[in-house]
Amino acid sequence: PEKCSSVPESLRFDCYPERNVVVTQELCESRGCCFMESDRPWDSRGGLPWCFYSPDFPSYALESLNQTELGLKGLLTRKVKTYYPRDIEKLQLSAEFETDTRLHIKITDSRSPRYEVPLEVPRVRKRAENPTYTLEFSKEPFGLVVKRRSSGTVLMNTTVAPLIFTDQFLQISTTLPSKFLYGLGEHRGSFLHSLDWSTLTFWARDVPPTESYNLYGVHPFYLVMEEGGAAHGVFLLNSNAMEVALQPAPALTWRTIGGILDFYIFLGPDPNLVVQQYQQVIGFPAMPPFWGLGFHLCRWGYETSNMTWQTVKAMRNYRIPQDTQWNDIDYMEGYRDFTVDPERFNTLPQMVEDLQKHGQYYVMILDPGISSTHPPGSYWPYDEGLRRGIFINSTQGKPLIGQVWPGLTAFPDFSNLDTHQWWLENLNLFYKHVPFDGIWIDMNEPSDFMDGSTEGCSPEELDNPPYVPAVLGGSLFAKTICPSAKQSASTHYNLHNLYGLMEAKATASALIKIREKRPFVISRSTFPSQGRYSGHWLGDNRSEKKDMYWSIPGLLSFSLFGIPLVGADICGFSGSTSEELCTRWMQLGAFYPFSRNHNTQNEKAQDPTAFSPAARTAMKEALLTRYGLLPFLYTLFHRAHLQGDTVARPLFFEFPQDEATYSIDRQFLWGRSLLVTPVLESGADSVIGYFPRGVWYDYYTGSPVNSSGENLKTAAPLDHINVHVREGTILPTQTPGLSSWVSSGNPLRLIAALSQSASAWGDLFWDDGESLDTFERGDYSYLVFNVTQNTFTSTVLHSNVEATYITVDTLAVYGVREQPKTVTVNGKETPFSYLENQVLTVTALDLGLSQGFSIRWL
Ligand code: GLC
Repeated sequence: PEKCSSVPESLRFDCYPERNVVVTQELCESRGCCFMESDRPWDSRGGLPWCFYSPDFPSYALESLNQTELGLKGLLTRKVKTYYPRDIEKLQLSAEFETDTRLHIKITDSRSPRYEVPLEVPRVRKRAENPTYTLEFSKEPFGLVVKRRSSGTVLMNTTVAPLIFTDQFLQISTTLPSKFLYGLGEHRGSFLHSLDWSTLTFWARDVPPTESYNLYGVHPFYLVMEEGGAAHGVFLLNSNAMEVALQPAPALTWRTIGGILDFYIFLGPDPNLVVQQYQQVIGFPAMPPFWGLGFHLCRWGYETSNMTWQTVKAMRNYRIPQDTQWNDIDYMEGYRDFTVDPERFNTLPQMVEDLQKHGQYYVMILDPGISSTHPPGSYWPYDEGLRRGIFINSTQGKPLIGQVWPGLTAFPDFSNLDTHQWWLENLNLFYKHVPFDGIWIDMNEPSDFMDGSTEGCSPEELDNPPYVPAVLGGSLFAKTICPSAKQSASTHYNLHNLYGLMEAKATASALIKIREKRPFVISRSTFPSQGRYSGHWLGDNRSEKKDMYWSIPGLLSFSLFGIPLVGADICGFSGSTSEELCTRWMQLGAFYPFSRNHNTQNEKAQDPTAFSPAARTAMKEALLTRYGLLPFLYTLFHRAHLQGDTVARPLFFEFPQDEATYSIDRQFLWGRSLLVTPVLESGADSVIGYFPRGVWYDYYTGSPVNSSGENLKTAAPLDHINVHVREGTILPTQTPGLSSWVSSGNPLRLIAALSQSASAWGDLFWDDGESLDTFERGDYSYLVFNVTQNTFTSTVLHSNVEATYITVDTLAVYGVREQPKTVTVNGKETPFSYLENQVLTVTALDLGLSQGFSIRWL
C-alpha cells in the first residue's frame, strides 16, 4: 500500500525485531505493519527492516496536559492493543524542567507503580527559569519533540514511530540531529557508533569482548555532537534487559523489557558539560588513592605466593616502578572466597607485609559465587550466609545454585543490606590474616558457568519474556542466574544489570570501615553511578594489536559513563603476547588512567621483567614517564571527583568545532592538555596522528609542532611513545620514584607550554593521597599556575600541611621565542638555560609549594 511505500528506507522502524524468526509477510501483517522486501540482506544483527511501522500505526493519544510546579503532567491513553501481552493503557507523562540544561521526562503506568531503578537521583524543588530547551507535543499519535532553544536544532523527536508500553516490552524511537553518536556501553567497537542498521544490546554478560555482543556492564547513555559543535546527552534510567537499534535516518530506538521510561536530557552545550551534567544525576566518581594511579601488576597463574613475591622482587631489582601487586584466584583454597591456600600461599602474609614495608600495596580478587558444597561447619561464608538468608533465592524460595570457579555456588544478594554486613564481616576476618589494600571484584555480571541454575530456569515470563533483546546466547539466563530469582529489592530480572554496582557499593563501604582510608575497588560489571564506588577494567581481551586499539574507545566510553578509573589488561589477557606488542602496549598502558598488566593462566609471563633488556628498559621508561606525571593525573582525578571532568578525554571534547576530531579513537588526551599518540601497528618506527590546530610541544623535549589541524607523522622508535603538550597549559610533574609513595615526596618540575599569545594555565590538587574526603573536609592544597607577560605565578588557593612537604625544583617553559636576558625568582636574579628549541629552564629553585611565588624572564 501507498502508506507503506511512502516511508523512506532510512525511516523504517523495525516492527519485527525478534531474532529467532524469519519474518514473513503474513507474520508482519498480523502485527498491522508494512512488509517490503529489499535486496539489502537482513541478518540477525539488524539491517534494513522488511517489516516496519506505517505512519498510522496505532499509538497513544495525549488526553490531557497540565502545568505542575516543575513542568508538565499529562495522561496518555491507548485504545488499540499492540501485539505484545499486557498493554498499559493509561500512562502518566511527566516533564520536569529540572535545570536550565536538564530536562527530565518520565513515562509510567498511571494506575499502578512499576519497578524503578533504586538509584538516588537529585530532587529538584524549583522549575528551571531559563531552560535552553523547548518541549512540544504531538497529541495523536502521541510524540514529543525537544529542541535546543538557541539553534532550533531538534534533539529528540519521538513522533517518527509509535510508542509501545506493555508490561514487558517498552519501545520509543527518536530521530537524532546528526550521525555523531557516542556512548551506549558496554560494547566493543569504535568510539563513534555506526548508524548503519546496527543493534546494541544491554545485559550484563561474562564474555571476552567481541563486537556487537552485550558485555560486562550496562550504560544506557549517549552523547551526540550536533551541527556547529554543540553537544547533548540522553540517559535512560532503566536497568532491564534492553537494546538500542540505530539507523541511518539518523534515528535510534530504545527497547527495554521492564521498568519505566525515565529519560534525562542534557543540553551541554559543550561535550564536557554534557558529561558533567550526566554525572550530576548519577553521582561524581570517588577520588582514588594516589597509589591507585601507580602501576599495577597481576596475572592468573602465579602458582604460589613465593612466585608472586619473586616477581615483585624482580621488578625492584630492575628498578621498574610498581605500586601494587595483585593475586588472582590462585591464592584461594579450592577457589573459595575468603580462604588462602595454606601450602601454596603460605607466605602470603609475609609478602603483603613486605610490600607494605616498601610503600607498596596488595590487591586480591574476590568473586561473588560462594561455594555451597562444603560440609556444614567447614566454610563460614556459606554457613553464615545461609543462616542469615543473604543469598539470592530461586522461585522455590531456596538459594539458587549455579556454578563458578569453586564448583557449585550460591550468590549473595547485594541488594540486601544484611548482605553488606555479612560481606564486611568476611572481609574483616580475612583482613586479620591478609591485610589487603584494595579489592578486585570479578565475575559479577553475575557469571554462571551454567545457564540459570542447577535446575535450569522456569518457562515463565521472567525467564522467558515475550520479547528477548538480542542478547548473546539468545536467552536472559545464558551464562547467568535465572531472571526469576528473588532478591530483596526486586526480581533478578530487574536487578541483573545492577549486580556489579551493588557489589561494588558493599565492597567500597567495607574497605572504608576496615582500613579507614579511601577504598580502591576495580569491578568488571558496572552500571551508571558505579564511578562512586569503583573503577573498571575492560575484561578479557587478547594479546593482539587490535585489542590494544580497542582499549582506547573503551577508555573514552567509560569516561563518558563517569568511570574515569579505567584501563585494559596491558599486553593482553588471553593469547600470548610478543615483545614488540607488549612494549607498545606498556607504553600505551602507561597512559591508561588505571594501569595494570594482567595475563591469563598458562601463558608465558608478560610482566616487564620477562623481556630483553631493551624492551624492559623501554617499559620502565614509559612507567617513569607516568610516575613523573602523577601530580597532573591526580589533579585530573580531583576534577573528575569535584565536577565530573573526564580524565582520558576524546579530542573532540576540546575541539568541538573541528569535525576532523569526531571519529578519532586512536589517540586521546589527558584532561585538556596532554595528547597521547601511541603506536598501534607492528613494525613501525613512526606514527601518524591528528594534531588539532595550534602549537603542540613534544612533552620530553619541548620542541614545538605547529599544526594547521592536520595529520602529522612523528618518529616513534620502539622505545618511545609520542606525547605532546597543548599550548597554553601548565603541567605539574614530579621526579619519578619507583613507587608513588617515593614519587610523592620528590620535588616538582613545572612545565609551562606557552600559547601563541605567550600565556598558560594549570593547577595542582595535593593532599595526603589516602585519607577519606580530604576535599570535603578541606584538608588539601590547591594551587593555580599562570603565565602572563613573561611571568609565571603560583597562587595558593587552599593550603594544608601536605604542601609544605614538597618543593618546586624546576620550571621549564616551552615556547619562549627569544632568549631572555635575565630571569628572576620572587625578584631575585637566578641562573637559567635557554635552548634553541625555545625551552627556558630554571633549576635548583627549591621553592616551597605552600607559598605563592613568581618567576619572570625578560
Ligand atoms: C575472569 C577475569 C580474569 C581473571 C579470571 C580468573 O576471566 O575476567 O581477569 O583472570 O577470571 O579469575
